[in-house]
Parts: sequence; C-alpha cells; structure tokens
Amino acid sequence: MNLMIVKDKAQGGKEAFNLIKEAIDSGAKVLGLATGSTPETLYKEMRESELDFSDMISINLDEYVGLSADHPQSYHTFMKKNLVSAKPFKKTFIPDGLGDEEAEIKRYNKIIEEYPIDLQILGIGTNAHIGFNEPGTSFLQETHVEELTSATIEANKRYFESEKEVPKYAFSMGIKSIVSAKQIILMAYGEEKAEAVNQMINGSITEQVPASILQTHDNVTVIIDEAAASKL
Ligand code: GLP
Repeated sequence: MNLMIVKDKAQGGKEAFNLIKEAIDSGAKVLGLATGSTPETLYKEMRESELDFSDMISINLDEYVGLSADHPQSYHTFMKKNLVSAKPFKKTFIPDGLGDEEAEIKRYNKIIEEYPIDLQILGIGTNAHIGFNEPGTSFLQETHVEELTSATIEANKRYFESEKEVPKYAFSMGIKSIVSAKQIILMAYGEEKAEAVNQMINGSITEQVPASILQTHDNVTVIIDEAAASKL
C-alpha cells in the first residue's frame, strides 16, 4: 500500500484528484465512486476542474434500501449535489434503493461485469467497513443487501433527523468487486478513523476488518491526515 499523510481533508482531496487525473490520462474510463463526508473535497476538485467525464462511466458503491433516488439523504442525491450535476458522466450507476432485492443485485453485478472498474474511490467506516460491507462480510461477496451495524447507524445518524430515520439495510457492492478494480484510493480523515486505519494497514487480513483485504491488492493508495494516522 502506498501511504500518503496529508495536512488536512482539503489537501487529501487535491492529492486524490491528481491520482485520478493521472489515471484518466493513462486511459481510465470507469470510476468507482463513494459517498460520505470523506470524498467531499475530492468531488469539489473534480467539479472545479477542467476535466470532462462525459465519455466516462461511474459506478457507485452503495445505496440505502428504502430511500427513493430523490430522498434528500439518498446517495443518488449526494452524487447529484457533489458531482454529477456539475460534471455529468456518460452513464452513472447507483443501486436503486427501491428496487426489488434479487433483481437489483443481478442488475448491479451485470453492470460491474460490463464495465470493469479502473479506479475505485473508498472511504472507511469507524469499524473498517468499505462500501457498506460490515465486519464479517465474506471477502468473496458480490453485490448484496447488508444489514447495517449499530456502529454504522450511529455514525450516519448525523445526516438524518433521528436515529430512527436511518435505514437499517443497504445495497452494497461486494468486497470481491471492490478489489477487482485495477487501482484503489482510500481516504480517511480524523481521529475516529485512526483505529480502523491501523487495523487496515497493520492488522491481520480478516473478514472482521473488511478494509484489511486491501493489503492483498497491488495498487492501493491510502490518503490520510495526521489524526487518522495517529495510531499507526
Ligand atoms: C458510509 C459509506 C461508506 C463511507 C463510510 C464513512 O456508511 N457507506 O462508503 O466510506 O460510511 O463515511 P464518512 O466518509 O462520512 O466518514
């Protein structure tokens, strides 16, 4: 893993953006995208850049089950607001939170097969989840519906009016698909991510620490600030 320790989230966004630019210059056509507060500065760089994504494909990691695309907290809304309204892709794929479970899983796996991901952007949960793959999820899992842990519900309740409103399930791209990406950039900021980052980099490779699978990938860049690096 290439480790990059940056001053803050703004600099992290710039570094990640430079890597994306390089990948696109080298022919990358399919970006795997993440949501959450972590990639916000990266998307700002992308929005404000000269880059044109209109001949590229984007595939998002996940979506809450039960939220319609136009729900204010859906990941569809997040992506529109943070990136794709300003910088549209040729095609943008995000799981349909209202879709029939079995059909949606099939559809999403077919999309990932049709458009192999060149570069996957990731954040990390405080429990080291990637996408919505919670601890214990098989490394061989493809797209599926994941039951969110109480730690994730707790961490994400800040976006909702109350904890009760936080969906309990999400569609998530599986770990097998995530690691099939040719290149991966994982970003993490803040002290609350420090233990997950340490386990990901220095811990054993175990399904209890979903992000630890990245130790087996040959092109991963981890961009973190000093607080997230504080337990390394
Ligand atoms: C969310 C998302 C993840 C994200 C993580 C961290 O639940 N499903 O893709 O990386 O949790 O979120 P944040 O960046 O807001 O800390």
